Amino acid sequence: MKAVEIKPGIYWVGAIDWNLRYFHGYVTPRGTTYNAYLIVDDKITLVDTVKHYLFDEMLSRIKEIVDPSQIDYVVSNHVEMDHSGGLPGIMTLAPKAKLVTSPQGKKGLQRYYKKDDWDFMVVKSGEELKIGSRTLKFVHVPMVHWPDSMVTYIPEAKLLLPNDAFGQHIASAGRFDDQVGWDIIQEEAATYYANIVLPYGDNVNKALDVVTQLDIDMIAPSHGVIWRSYIEKILPVYRKWANNETEKKALIVYDTMWNSTKRIALALRDGLEEAGVPVTVRFLQTSHISEIMTDLLTSRAILIGSPTLNNGMLPTVSAFLTYIKGLRPKKRIGLAFGSYGWGGQGAKEVAEAIKDTGWEMPLDLINIQYLPGDHELDMAKEAGKKLGEIIQA
Ligand code: FEO
Repeated sequence: MKAVEIKPGIYWVGAIDWNLRYFHGYVTPRGTTYNAYLIVDDKITLVDTVKHYLFDEMLSRIKEIVDPSQIDYVVSNHVEMDHSGGLPGIMTLAPKAKLVTSPQGKKGLQRYYKKDDWDFMVVKSGEELKIGSRTLKFVHVPMVHWPDSMVTYIPEAKLLLPNDAFGQHIASAGRFDDQVGWDIIQEEAATYYANIVLPYGDNVNKALDVVTQLDIDMIAPSHGVIWRSYIEKILPVYRKWANNETEKKALIVYDTMWNSTKRIALALRDGLEEAGVPVTVRFLQTSHISEIMTDLLTSRAILIGSPTLNNGMLPTVSAFLTYIKGLRPKKRIGLAFGSYGWGGQGAKEVAEAIKDTGWEMPLDLINIQYLPGDHELDMAKEAGKKLGEIIQA
């Protein structure tokens, strides 16, 4: 693919990673892109780069437009190496370029790359840089995704370059949202938010407050497609996610050894459905925890089940709970369940972990010895129904 002119004089020069299937703990079945943008003005500016192994792809696209030695500014909106991996290469080929970044950005880039000869220009939040007919306005958005993160806004082009925010892990032939379609983008934006941005809802809200004040008709993130047709749709969705607003839905996540915990999971499902609540059931041996997070993002009730193994919960359940602890979803209703032969610590550990999330837990732990009988399954179903009624209330 050639460089793509996304606005007059502004080009996508990033790289498409068709083969990426795993991104720091998160499965990416559709691959991803690392988006870099070249702005041709009196001062030639490159905003962000790509992962190191795709540097040559980015470089060939830049060379279609300009000689890289002519680049005056390289903006690093974010230190993480999927965006800064191409910096050593481009800074070598663009010896006169200043490297524009936030104070934390400078610190991070110095720590990662240890280049004493880079000519840093550290910008404050709100600072502007005139590059000719266009202005670059930098706004710090700490923790969206790292402390250094900032966005670059070009008012004359009504264009926002927000780096990780509004990203999606999608490799595609089309560079724009309407070339891929809302359903796929919405799903991938949700998965991305749930696995990467979820802990930073307060910061996202602050960033949205800024973004909604700007005159924008295009949002060009650093991953996936560029928003031009669905901006009005994605902004309110992001606000809901940032506020931990959920739907009247339930998510059951479990692992099982001899199907006892599975039977309880299915009885809970039946009760929830009887109360009119849609239920997603995820088995931890066949669903990756990062896929489950997409369901969790919009689900009001989260029911988590484990049998007892070696006097504790199963490691798969423990991994899921550890992942949740880091991603810090709020305002959910939790329920722990499980089965055991003796001891019964597994489901109790699940209950403790749910309690630590701060979620409401209106119902008691369900913990059944050996194989649940009809009466116990009826009780589990009844608990599901009761939880469903609480969700519906
Ligand atoms: Fe896409 Fe935080 O890096």
